[in-house]
Amino acid sequence: MKRSIPELQHSDAPLVMVTAYDYPGGRHAEAAGVDLILVGDSLGNVVLGYDSTAPVTLGDMIHHARAVRRGAPGTFMVVDLPFGTYHTGVQDAMRSAVRVIQETGADAIKMEGATPEILQVVQTLTRNGIPVMGHVGLMPQTATAQGGLRVQGKDDGTARATLDGAVALEAAGAFSVVLEAIPARLANLISERLSVPTIGIGAGVGCDGQVLVTHDLLGVYEGEDKKIARRYAEVGRLSREAIETYAAEVRARAFPTKENSFVMKDDVLGKLY
Ligand code: KIV
Repeated sequence: MKRSIPELQHSDAPLVMVTAYDYPGGRHAEAAGVDLILVGDSLGNVVLGYDSTAPVTLGDMIHHARAVRRGAPGTFMVVDLPFGTYHTGVQDAMRSAVRVIQETGADAIKMEGATPEILQVVQTLTRNGIPVMGHVGLMPQTATAQGGLRVQGKDDGTARATLDGAVALEAAGAFSVVLEAIPARLANLISERLSVPTIGIGAGVGCDGQVLVTHDLLGVYEGEDKKIARRYAEVGRLSREAIETYAAEVRARAFPTKENSFVMKDDVLGKLY
């Protein structure tokens, strides 16, 4: 059964969140009993083949989130607001979030950052009944400004900014905060300071929950190992091998066989001759 925000916030066990981008992804995640599904804008990298999340549009997110929802009607679903859809003012952010909630059936939206502008957006959305998950540490949408896709919070400046940002997001009304690619000890400190759950990716075991990009945990891309993830399957290799076997059997006329073919009565065929 779908977990409510208070249930998620008072979970005794670490929260389990995975990303999903389509109907089968939603079905698998729900069948596995995860606590939350994130329709992440990592969609851009792992599904749409972009080299960053920047080109992902609100339309892309809505299209994919609707499919996830059809596969996972009973799981708490968070949808990322993509780059540019909440940066041009509170009204625009509100419009983007309302579209996501209305058109996808999402339970919450997620946005990156904790600048004064973003905090104002978080406050407005949550006051208007739209649950918001925050996101600090490495923020892929604005990674260029952070000096690339690199660990944050190792130096005084970024450690302080990450801690203050997480605290400010909770104060603005976020029901949970993602901590991405920060040292485990900083994540522990933030998790102690916040009363809302932290969900880590590359932030150590001390967070209140963990999230992984499903394509990373499934091993969809052969030879792409990431420090922050663990491959629990080799779906990429299995997919390639299955297609290779199919291709070999087609070329050898070993597929299809009689079992895969439909029969026809002699007299019906005879008339055609
Ligand atoms: O887009 C995404 O998948 C994310 C997770 C990495 C937290 O934001």
